[in-house]
Parts: sequence; structure tokens; C-alpha cells
Amino acid sequence: TVVPVLTIDGPSGSGKGTISRNVALHLGWHYLDSGALYRATGLAAAWESIDLSDEDAVADCARRASIRFQPMPLTESGADGGEPRVIVNGVDATDDLRTETAGGAASAIAALPAVRAALVDLQKSFRRLPGLVADGRDMGTVIFPDASPKVFLTASADERARRRYKQLKDKGVSVTLNGLLGEILARDERDANRAVAPLVPAADAVVIDTTGLGIEAVVRRVLDLLPAR
Ligand code: C5P
Repeated sequence: TVVPVLTIDGPSGSGKGTISRNVALHLGWHYLDSGALYRATGLAAAWESIDLSDEDAVADCARRASIRFQPMPLTESGADGGEPRVIVNGVDATDDLRTETAGGAASAIAALPAVRAALVDLQKSFRRLPGLVADGRDMGTVIFPDASPKVFLTASADERARRRYKQLKDKGVSVTLNGLLGEILARDERDANRAVAPLVPAADAVVIDTTGLGIEAVVRRVLDLLPAR
């Protein structure tokens, strides 16, 4: 049996995480947050004082790291209980991983081909029945090229910065909107222009601009792309 995969790629703050989790919840499918793997690898490397530009050392660290996801329990209403906790080498690193510092480190090591190669098998191992919703930058282009449907989410940079700002504020992280906008633009620029697996929509991806759209509306649009079941 071919295990179905729905990919959701896009820049930071496009709503990928929230939309992907909700779609997976609706379908009863597994969920892969591939960005968390790059973030966790960056953190694990920092813990070992590895120079983040040392490609072989970071790739080796990625292969050795134990990265596990602990799904949040469903709330009583059956709604999404929030992001899964991320356990890196046995330590709950969820809060550290969400910071823009971790995002920047992730983006730096994600440009290294050996690091990306080290994480391929782990990402593919999430493809299990009854299906997978995969969230990232290259899910539809590189990791799951046979996925269907493929979604590419976008939103204006201002809106993406505002969403991240709210997300981080809610978590008690101290940030400024302008600082965040600058960091997001720099990260997108690097992600879109790197030589390996750059951030681009797959040729067969459906592009959804989520600027001004609510979560429910986007989830509907994505679910509507699936064949009637
Ligand atoms: O999605 P998230 O913001 O957590 O991703 C953090 C960084 O990890 C991105 O800026 C990107 O550089 C990298 N990434 C990637 N490929 C993926 C997912 C994330 O290169 N599939």
C-alpha cells in the first residue's frame, strides 16, 4: 500500500504549523514538523559547542541526535491541544526551539547539504498509515516528491511577522515586531536562495495566500484538495 502524504511548504509565519496540525487532526493522520528537526539539530550542535559552519561535524551531530515528538493531548472539545513537545537527547527543548535564535541557527545549518542528507531517512520514516501531513520547505519538492496534494502557503511579510510576534509574545518571549520582521526577511532570503532544496513551490503545488484568512478557512481549503473520501 502507498501511504498518502499531503505536503505543506512555505516561508516562516505563513501558518504552516497551525494549518498542518489541524489538517492532520481532521484526517487522523501523522504530522511531521520538519523545521523542528533542523531547529533541534542546531540546538544539539550548540550544546556540543560545534561550530555551526562545520558541515561534517553538524551532520554527524544530526545523525547521533535523538529527536522525538510528544503529541499534545486533545482538549476536551477534541480540538488541537497545541504543538507537540520536542524532546532532544532526552531533554524537553520545546521552548528553546521556538525562539528566532533557534530559527536562525536552523536556517544556517539547513543550507549545508550533508546536514540535509543526514535528516532524509528520519523524515521519510514519518510516512506511516493511515497518512502523513508533512510541514516544511522542501516536503513537496525533495522529501516526498510523489505526495498529493501539495500545498504552498504564503502571506505578506508584515502579516507573517505579526503572527510570529503574537506567537512568541503568548509564550512570554521578549521580541519587537520590527526586529522580528528583519529576522524573518533575512531567513526567507537565505532559505529561498540556497543551492540545495531552496524554498520554492513544487511545480504541482497549489499556492494559497493566507493573508487576511482565518485558520478555519485555510484548513477547509486544504481539506477540499483531497479526493472525496
Ligand atoms: O519551519 P521552521 O521555521 O521551524 O524552520 C526553521 C528553519 O529550518 C527554516 O528557516 C529553514 O531554513 C529550515 N528548514 C528547511 N527545510 C525544511 C524545514 C525547515 O530547510 N523542510
